Amino acid sequence: MPVEFLGIAATNDGSETGARSGAAFDKDYTLRLARAHEDHGWDRVLFAYSSGSPIPAPAAAYLAAKVEKLQILLAHRPNVAYPTYAARTFATLDQISDGRLTVHFITGGSDQEQGREGDTLTKDERYARTREYIDIVKQVWTRREAFDHEGEHYRFHDFVSDVFPVQEPRPGVSFGGSSPAAYAAGGAEADIYCLWGEPLAETAQQIESVKAAAAAAGRGDVPRIQVAFRPIIAPTEELAREKAQRTVGAIKQRREEGLVRHHRGDRPQNTGSQRLIALAEQGERYDRALWTPTAAATGGAGNSNALVGTPETVAQALLDYYDLGVDILSARGYDLLGDAIDFGRHVIPIVREEVAKRDRQRAPRGPGAVDPALGLDLGAAPLAVSG
Ligand SMILES: Cc1cc2nc3c(=O)[nH]c(=O)nc-3n(C[C@H](O)[C@H](O)[C@H](O)COP(=O)(O)O)c2cc1C
Repeated sequence: MPVEFLGIAATNDGSETGARSGAAFDKDYTLRLARAHEDHGWDRVLFAYSSGSPIPAPAAAYLAAKVEKLQILLAHRPNVAYPTYAARTFATLDQISDGRLTVHFITGGSDQEQGREGDTLTKDERYARTREYIDIVKQVWTRREAFDHEGEHYRFHDFVSDVFPVQEPRPGVSFGGSSPAAYAAGGAEADIYCLWGEPLAETAQQIESVKAAAAAAGRGDVPRIQVAFRPIIAPTEELAREKAQRTVGAIKQRREEGLVRHHRGDRPQNTGSQRLIALAEQGERYDRALWTPTAAATGGAGNSNALVGTPETVAQALLDYYDLGVDILSARGYDLLGDAIDFGRHVIPIVREEVAKRDRQRAPRGPGAVDPALGLDLGAAPLAVSG
């Protein structure tokens, strides 16, 4: 199966290790970062969402009009827009981008953050709402006749859209979360299920939970799996380890100065972040290159576990996840622009080449199928071995 790389579509150069140098919506930086991804082998970039930040949909429209090939993953919180309105926003954006849109539906892991924009539901209620919301959005994207909806969270009558996505039958639906309610909702509705980077064993368990939820929802297929990391690469293992220590130092310093608004002290409510903190408490290093102090230093704030090493080591670590069934690899550095270029130059080509090798080795066997390594027709009668 092909592998895809998801990067970040930030609208400014700020990160956990450094304050932004300009405005929250820095047009030039937004475009430069996207072009760096497009020019260095990435497939798609994520426009994340948080209360107070620039609104992702118009920022994504701006990029779509300027950048030719890069695909867009647009994060969206159901509480901020009625689903018929949101579905048309997405359809319009799919038109602007000529079919390059996937929507990442966010349920919201923190009551406090959700409350900042008037959302008072509990997390389990929010998951039920997200499920209903995605179902409505899919209908708005695909139904040509007026329809009614009578649900727990939304009721409307006689609705039909006049704007449809370019993609047939519809854009992809992406979803994230690590609680049982998340698996149930995402297992039922998602085309892509997103996880934050955990050790291989824990990732395998989560993949099984997603598959079980998809089966329980009566699906014949399973969502594709995406896993996210913070790569820290350098020419030697030792230099990478030093860089990782410097990164954690910078994160801690920013936290002590109280500059990271969403990641202050308290225990996070979302299961995904709780899992990251527990893993960091159990150990610093897992498997080939997974390193947890970056997650510990941010309080398990989202995509925060690092992969530390040379490009070769980090590429091999990513391939371990590919071998588990992960076919979308999400990565973001701490110097967003420089790290997108370095990762694209030095890591992506290794992973793509190794994936192509694996795919060739798994080539279909039957009459006419040729083993690429041996140049033999595998469907032909076995060679007579004499002697
Ligand atoms: C890859 C990925 C990206 C996410 N992006 C965002 C985001 O941009 N904004 C946000 O508020 N939450 C984001 N989330 C959070 C989830 O949508 C969800 O609200 C949270 O993980 C639920 O927590 P749970 O683990 O308790 O189910 C993201 C989650 C994942 C896995």
